[in-house]
Amino acid sequence: MAEHKRIRIRDLNEKKRRGEKIAMLTAYDSAIARLLDRAGMDVLLVGDSVGMVALGYETTLPVTLDDMVHHTKAVSRATRRALLVADMPFLTYQAGVDDAVRNAGRLIQEGGAAAVKMEGGRAIADVVDRLVSIGIPVMGHIGLTPQSVHQMSGYRRQARTAESAAALLDDARLLEHAGAFAVVLESIPDEVAREVTASLSIPTIGIGAGPHCDGQVLVSYDAFGLTGDYLPPFARKYADLGRIIDDAARAYIDDVRRGRFPEARVDTHPVEVTLE
Ligand code: KIV
Repeated sequence: MAEHKRIRIRDLNEKKRRGEKIAMLTAYDSAIARLLDRAGMDVLLVGDSVGMVALGYETTLPVTLDDMVHHTKAVSRATRRALLVADMPFLTYQAGVDDAVRNAGRLIQEGGAAAVKMEGGRAIADVVDRLVSIGIPVMGHIGLTPQSVHQMSGYRRQARTAESAAALLDDARLLEHAGAFAVVLESIPDEVAREVTASLSIPTIGIGAGPHCDGQVLVSYDAFGLTGDYLPPFARKYADLGRIIDDAARAYIDDVRRGRFPEARVDTHPVEVTLE
């Protein structure tokens, strides 16, 4: 198999400069990571969305650092080419810079991530600055920040007034100034995302933020039809794996119940079995 060059942060900056879009999806295990990596994904994100789509939680808040290290290890074992980014889960970076350094360090050292992602703007600029200064690359995440679901009174579209759009632009600039190498813009109006993207020299990665961002990210379980009937309005289902797995599971159950699986084998080298 052909060897592919590993995607680096510098490559993402180059893509922005050349006007080439960046493709990013979430991955939580080795099997899916291997497929996405081979398909040529630029960035794989071990999102704390793992809590909602794979661990059965209602929000991302219960996800622990140990959960994230576990899933990041699984993804990194199967990733040869994509840049691997791991989410810092709730309360692993908000309580202080030293805490954040130790916790981000685990995602890099034990998990095998190349970078971490964290939610927030000005409130975490000092943490971003410190992590970057000790060599841990940080991707920012502003707009709809799922770890603040209660503060936002639900998963609501953000930056819808001139004032909140200006505050979001400030946050984006502060993150860039603090050294973030990219920033996710989640659930904000297309025009706000366009302005942020034009104002920054680092790439913006949109989710529910329209087509003007430098790249796009989706939760892979949404993109592949693994989240039941619910699909966020901005997502697109690229495959209906839920349907395919359902059909396959029913076919298997039917075969087992009717005795069609397994088939009887004709042993070409029969072994004599003596029962004591
Ligand atoms: O956790 C996650 O999957 C994310 C993406 C939605 C950007 O943060």
